[in-house]
Amino acid sequence: MFSKETYQQRRIQLKNKVGKGVLLFLGNNEAPMNYPSNTYRYRQDSHFLYFFGLSLDRLAAVIDIDEDKEILFGDDYTIDDIIWMGDQPSIAELAARCGVAHTAAFAELAAYLQKAQQAGRTVHFLPPYRDDNKLLLHQLLQLPFEQLKSAASPEMIRAVVSLRECKSAEEIEEMEKVCNIGVEMHLSAMRGAKAGRMERELAGVAEGITLSYGSGVSFPVILSQNGETLHNHNHGQVLENGRMLLVDAGAEAVSGYSSDYTRTFPVSGKFTQKQREIYEIVLQANEETFTLAKPGVRYFDVHLNAYTVIARGLTALGLMKGNPEDAAKAGAPALFMPHGLGHMLGLDVHDMEDLGENYVGYDETIRRSPIFGHGSLRCAKTLKPGFIVTDEPGIYFIPKLIDIWEKEGRFAEYINYPKVREYIGFGGIRIEDDVLITETGCRLLGKPLPKKVADLEAVIGR
Ligand code: GLY
Ligand code: MN
Repeated sequence: MFSKETYQQRRIQLKNKVGKGVLLFLGNNEAPMNYPSNTYRYRQDSHFLYFFGLSLDRLAAVIDIDEDKEILFGDDYTIDDIIWMGDQPSIAELAARCGVAHTAAFAELAAYLQKAQQAGRTVHFLPPYRDDNKLLLHQLLQLPFEQLKSAASPEMIRAVVSLRECKSAEEIEEMEKVCNIGVEMHLSAMRGAKAGRMERELAGVAEGITLSYGSGVSFPVILSQNGETLHNHNHGQVLENGRMLLVDAGAEAVSGYSSDYTRTFPVSGKFTQKQREIYEIVLQANEETFTLAKPGVRYFDVHLNAYTVIARGLTALGLMKGNPEDAAKAGAPALFMPHGLGHMLGLDVHDMEDLGENYVGYDETIRRSPIFGHGSLRCAKTLKPGFIVTDEPGIYFIPKLIDIWEKEGRFAEYINYPKVREYIGFGGIRIEDDVLITETGCRLLGKPLPKKVADLEAVIGR
C-alpha cells in the first residue's frame, strides 16, 4: 500500500473531476470455489485498490462530493473470525491507513444512499462485474438487474480512466518490480523447455515463481505448442522437437500491479528456417513499436504499422501479395493476426477493461474500427506520458479461419491461399513486451527478456 496521502490526492482529483453527487465504490468479496469457506485467491477490485489501497473483503466506500465527506463502510471482525484468521485490523484502523475520516457499519450503506437519492442527488457507480456486487447494487439502488451496467456513471468512468491511465512514479516502480517477476517466470519456461517434458510442468514452475513472491499470476498462464489458439489454457501436451512453444504469462504483485509478456521459441532450442522466417517478421513488428510509440502518436497507428510489417514480410515470403500498405489498411493481415497490437496495463492486466474498452482505449478523437482485426485493438487512442501499453504482434495459422476466408475468397487480391495452406500445422507466434510511454518516447519495462533468435537459442534448454 502507498502512503495515505497518495490515496487522498487521488480522491481529491476524482472529486474535482466528477464535480457533484455521491461516488460509490463496492469492494470485492471472497469468492467461493466449491463451498463458502473454500475460496479462490482473494482479489480486491482495482478501483477500490487505486482509491483506497485496502485489499480486504466486505468493504464499501462513499465519497460524498456535495457534503465533502468520505466514509468507509464495513464491519469489524468478530472473535469467531479472529479464531480462524488471526487478529485483524478494525475498520477505523483501515480507514486511517487510507486517510478516510469516517467509518460506518456495512448495513448503514443502504440508508445513506437512499437518503442521497431522495434528496435528488446522483449516486455514481462503476459497471459491476461480479454477481454478488450486482445483486448488492440492485438492492442498494433499486435498479433493475439488467440495467446495472448501462446505469453506471459515464462521468465517474471518464474521471477514473483519466486518473488511472497515467501512471505515477510510485506506480511505475511497482510495475518495474512486477515486470521483473514476469521476466523470471519466462526465463524459467525457456530454461525448462525440453522434448519429453509436459507443458504443465513448465506452467507450474512459472506460476510457482510468482506465488513465491507472495502473489500470483495476472491471468491464467497460456503455455502451449498450439500457439495458434490465442488464449490456450490447456497445458496437457508433451513437448516435441520441431514444434514451437508459445508462453504468454505475467505476474500480479501483492500491490495488485500486473505484468504481461509473451515469448515463442522452438522446443529443440533451434529455429527451423521456416520458423525463423515467420519469427523475424513478428520480431520486427514488435521492435518497430519502440521507435514509433511516443506522446502524441495514436496507438492505432502503431498497430497499423505492425499490420504493415506483417503484410510486407508475408508478401516477401509469398503468403501475401499486392501492396502491403493497402493490404494492412484494408485489414487483410487479420487472417494471421486477428487481434490488436496491445492494451493498457496497470492494476489490471487489461487495465480498466471492466469500465468498457471504448472508454479506456478510445475517446472522442478515435472510434473503434468496424474492420475485423483492427476492431479488436483494445487501446487505439493518442498516447500520453505515463501510459503503459503492451506491444504484442503475432502471426498465427488458424486452420478454421483460413478455411472460412478461403471459401469466401476474402482478400483474394492480397492473400495467396495455396501458399498459406503450406503453413497449416505451423502453430502461432506472439512476442509481447510491456512499454512505458515517457515524455519523449517510450521504454521497455522490466529487465530485457531474450527475444532475438540468437539470444533465445542461447537460453532454451539450459
Ligand atoms: N496476455 C493475455 C492478453 O493480453 O490477453
Ligand atoms: Mn497482453
